[in-house]
Amino acid sequence: MKIAVVGTGYVGLVTGTCLAETGNHVTCVDINVKKVEAMKNGQLPIYEPGLELLFHRNIKQDRLFFTSDLAAAIEDAKIIFLALPTPPGADGAADLSYVLGAGADIAKLLKEYKVIVTKSTVPVGTADKLTAVLKANTDVEFAVVSNPEFLREGVAVDDFMKPDRVVVGTTDERARKLMGELYGPYVRQGNPIIFMDERSSELTKYAANSFLATKISFMNEIANLCELVGADVDMVRKGIGSDDRIGKRFLFSGIGYGGSCFPKDVQALAKASEENNYDFKILNAVMDVNTIQKSVLVEKVKNYFKGDLKGKKFALWGLAFKPETDDIREAPALYIIDDLLKAGATVAAFDPEGMKNVKELLGDTISYGDNQYDVLKDADALLIVTEWSVFRTPDLDQVGSLLRNKVIFDGRNLYDLQKMIDCGFYYNSIGRKIVS
Ligand code: UDX
Repeated sequence: MKIAVVGTGYVGLVTGTCLAETGNHVTCVDINVKKVEAMKNGQLPIYEPGLELLFHRNIKQDRLFFTSDLAAAIEDAKIIFLALPTPPGADGAADLSYVLGAGADIAKLLKEYKVIVTKSTVPVGTADKLTAVLKANTDVEFAVVSNPEFLREGVAVDDFMKPDRVVVGTTDERARKLMGELYGPYVRQGNPIIFMDERSSELTKYAANSFLATKISFMNEIANLCELVGADVDMVRKGIGSDDRIGKRFLFSGIGYGGSCFPKDVQALAKASEENNYDFKILNAVMDVNTIQKSVLVEKVKNYFKGDLKGKKFALWGLAFKPETDDIREAPALYIIDDLLKAGATVAAFDPEGMKNVKELLGDTISYGDNQYDVLKDADALLIVTEWSVFRTPDLDQVGSLLRNKVIFDGRNLYDLQKMIDCGFYYNSIGRKIVS
């Protein structure tokens, strides 16, 4: 099938590449001419495990194309995906100007029936707004479909190729058939394509992400309580997660959720509720808990050093908001760095993929290591911020000899408590006993 994808950000690129992988002819459009040229030359602008292989293969086999020419891209396409940014506006609501603007441009180019799909996370009612914009600019028939993405960074290719479910919001029969054909190869194992109306589909995305964020904030509160009552959150997690109704996944307490989706989507859903005169109490609590949780690690540090961090040096392992990505949007690391610098401390950080982005943002307000041991030299303590695999089994003798004090604050609960005692560390993690 001929497909166009408008917008080559993270979602657009993963969508376009993975749609080409099952034999579709996919043209990706972006207004950024330089970026388009680079992609034509085989340069992938994002880091996502597994994507590069598919990207090169599909370019080479003439199934994946890039252009800045919207008209050429959509000419033969039966389905046009919109994967455009929807940044939060000043009032917290998603800014739809890119999506609606693209809708107007596409409408003026329409010559025959096409399906226009919103892939970006958009507020409930966007399909209707987009339909109105298109109708105002064309007499040609079309359908607007909501098809939210559920891609996790780091495993996005797998999530796209083998989704737990595909949600398609449309009340148009022709669109339903085309979307069913397109996604058929991705749900061969029997996972469902769930068809519903546009508004339910739009809300499904927000509900999914907000529910997951709620699970995380709930566990972060359990962790805080564990510390007060002397319980171990890892045990509690295992104890409740083995109940199928609760499930084992997404129960890890830590230093708050970050990334490009959860913070934005929870806020947007709270905002949408407010606009509909509904006080969504749980969501407000989820956001409050997350804000507090981003500061717990530095609070622990401050308590240990009796409030005086001036002139102290801290080593940070991890900057990206989670492992296997270079994404630092809403990363807890940024809040931690800010708190430490404000308290007069210095920071030396290492992250396998995230340092380039942090350097662009913070420059040399902190220093960076070539590897994880580099940053430890003469540091007063090590803070573990992102749970990259490479941090899971470090050479603890080396860690201990490089640090000025054998002190670790672990925001991701990577190490066994007994091991830390055996190795002679002061070790303060989340929702577990402090050992030394
Ligand atoms: C998320 C959703 O999972 C995905 O379906 C959606 O389409 C986009 O948003 P992503 O932001 O890539 O994906 O990351 P995810 O793995 O879901 O983690 C989000 C945040 O929650 C991270 O900051 C992570 O550290 C945190 N988290 C996750 C926890 O603190 N505890 C957990 O148990 C799981």
